[in-house]
Amino acid sequence: MIDTENLTRKFGNRTAVDNVTLHVDEGEVFGFLGPNGAGKTTTVRMLCCLIGKTSGNARIADFSVDNAADCLKIRKMVGILPENVGLYESLSAYRNLDFYGKLYEVPEAKRRENIEHLLRLLGIWERREDAVGTFSKGTKQKIAIARALIHDPQVLFLDEPTSNLDPEASKTVRDFVLDLKKEKRTIFLNTHNLDEAERLCDRIAILKTRLIVVDSPKNLERSLYNRKTIVHLDSVTSPVLAAVKGLSAVKSLKTSDNKLILDIDDPERDNPELVRAIVAAGGNIQFVTELRSTLEDVYLKLIREASA
Ligand SMILES: Nc1ncnc2c1ncn2[C@@H]1O[C@H](COP(=O)(O)OP(=O)(O)O)[C@@H](O)[C@H]1O
Ligand SMILES: [Mg+2]
Repeated sequence: MIDTENLTRKFGNRTAVDNVTLHVDEGEVFGFLGPNGAGKTTTVRMLCCLIGKTSGNARIADFSVDNAADCLKIRKMVGILPENVGLYESLSAYRNLDFYGKLYEVPEAKRRENIEHLLRLLGIWERREDAVGTFSKGTKQKIAIARALIHDPQVLFLDEPTSNLDPEASKTVRDFVLDLKKEKRTIFLNTHNLDEAERLCDRIAILKTRLIVVDSPKNLERSLYNRKTIVHLDSVTSPVLAAVKGLSAVKSLKTSDNKLILDIDDPERDNPELVRAIVAAGGNIQFVTELRSTLEDVYLKLIREASA
């Protein structure tokens, strides 16, 4: 649905987006992660034909950002929640959406239908006549996303939809994104919130001017190190160490304080035997836990390597 090929944008002699090649499937929630200044917003603006590219190319469906006639089609088929949302605070929720619907030339009957659908989905249909200024930040953000959807776009770009929101408001917005996902829209989500990316996205791209990696959150977490088994004991004794080392399933063993940190061949299969061996050697087990790398570990490592 979205394809870029060596997409590049320079501002003067500074390169903001450098040779980015990526593909986003139809119906996918695609996370675009990167630190401030990584080029996320610039990429989205190029994809939506809001600014030109310096070189390379990008397409949405069959339309190229290269071509003025295609750009008109792209603008109709995409919805965008920009970084800085502007709603008319003194107008009602309904009037705000109706206004934007008119700008997008959505016919009146269709406008009414879409507004009702969106406001019901948001749970604010009953408050449709209230001025936007009276809503909480989280609800305003949901109205802004609804505004981006008023012309029923196939592709939705959300630029940091939960930055500046408190945890509760962030959750309402995230739940809304999950509802939209069920409607099979393609969603391109700029964020530097790793937790959000992990919860919402089918795949994640990490950008720092250049594209560093694209993969599913699960694969990214696995890429750093295999998950480990941690056994907390009241004390690590030599009989326990000898018993653990004697197991063929144990691929590596480290100790730290009263913990054993183990690489196990197949933890689900082999951990029961491990526990039996430790107990038989007189070990007093307090906890057995799993250690796996988080998306944050992977992200920080990749961003650090990219800066080196
Ligand atoms: N209109 C502009 N003029 C000059 N530099 C810009 C402009 N827009 C963005 N930049 C620069 O491009 C880089 C990427 O910015 P941006 O795309 O906003 O990053 P992000 O959204 O990932 O935080 C930054 O160094 C920023 O200062
Ligand atoms: Mg940005």
